[in-house]
Amino acid sequence: MKILIIGGTGLVSRPLASTLVRQGHHVTVFNRGKTGLKHDAPIDTIRGDRNNLGEFQQIMAGREFDAVIDMICSTTAQAQCDQRVFAGRTGHLIFCSTVAVYGNTQTNIPTTEGHIPIPISAAAKEKLSCERVFMEAQRSGRLNVTIFRLGETFGPGSPLLDNLGPASGCIERLRRGLPVVICGDGNGLKQSLYCEDAARAIALAAGNRRTWGEIYNLTGPDIITWDQHTQKIAAAIGAPVPRIYHISTDMLLKMAPGRYPILAESHRFHCVYSGDKLRRDLPQFRHAVPFDEGVRRTVAWMDANPALLPPSRHSDHDRWISRFDAVTDGIRAGNVATQ
Ligand SMILES: NC(=O)c1ccc[n+]([C@@H]2O[C@H](COP(=O)([O-])OP(=O)(O)OC[C@H]3O[C@@H](n4cnc5c(N)ncnc54)[C@H](OP(=O)(O)O)[C@@H]3O)[C@@H](O)[C@H]2O)c1
Repeated sequence: MKILIIGGTGLVSRPLASTLVRQGHHVTVFNRGKTGLKHDAPIDTIRGDRNNLGEFQQIMAGREFDAVIDMICSTTAQAQCDQRVFAGRTGHLIFCSTVAVYGNTQTNIPTTEGHIPIPISAAAKEKLSCERVFMEAQRSGRLNVTIFRLGETFGPGSPLLDNLGPASGCIERLRRGLPVVICGDGNGLKQSLYCEDAARAIALAAGNRRTWGEIYNLTGPDIITWDQHTQKIAAAIGAPVPRIYHISTDMLLKMAPGRYPILAESHRFHCVYSGDKLRRDLPQFRHAVPFDEGVRRTVAWMDANPALLPPSRHSDHDRWISRFDAVTDGIRAGNVATQ
């Protein structure tokens, strides 16, 4: 098949391009050429900025693809533009969405695709709006559409996501045996998806009629707690057994308003999504890369690319731990005094 990936050099889209080439497809990627990750396979590239909708439309005019995989569409206007550009001359459109569209899912675990989405952040609301544009195109017969709602995805090309959010400095602290903060009691449930596994699932769907008109959760294979996640990372990179400090999410968010949007939006909740529908329709799909191996590869990439990492916030952990200690010491002292 002739396949276009919008994106193509990102965390998931780069292994996706390589996977599709290995499967014998002719792959073209569309991006601005800013992301430095290189391909290990022969791939055609179209340069452009997808935020410039007029230019995007012009560039795509006259080009035909059997499948288009839009990895980065994130606004209603972009989704509508895709629909105008690709309807009627593209066999299949795959849109990469996010489990963040569900919002808080505490009463439906593992969350299935039928759960009514109530997104929290503006970005997740826009992703849901994109989904609706694409599904309307499917209903009206203008496009054959498949939607993947990705869960937390990791791999070389992007720093490991910590409980507090990106770049909270967990790896650095684990290696040095310093305590790390985890929200709540560390019992929040999560799944982690390795980027190459995500790529293989999406590749299996390309051109696959069984998936047309469907939405799939695409998440990691195992359900673990945040404490276990941290312990597994430490073991994978040969760090000492982690010293974990539990601080309530409310307290963290009050001490640092606006600093941890991902904690406020998702990590404070269980993030567990059912993969049953995906297994039903793509029975060949298997997660192939174990968590510890994925962690080692990701941390090796982080070590080799310090300039690509956001500035570390590792001292945040010390700040919150000392404030938490001060509060609990004060309460204990007060309790003792009143006994
Ligand atoms: N990672 C996660 O944990 C997670 C969780 C849920 C959902 N998702 C979803 O997964 C998708 C991300 O996939 P990904 O990691 O492969 O991609 P990504 O890293 O987010 O996107 C980067 C790709 O898009 C290109 N790009 C970015 N802005 C562009 C623009 N304005 N015009 C043209 N190209 C542009 C980049 O190349 P240039 O910079 O060179 O242009 C690169 O090829 C998103 O839809 C996201 O919502 C991810």
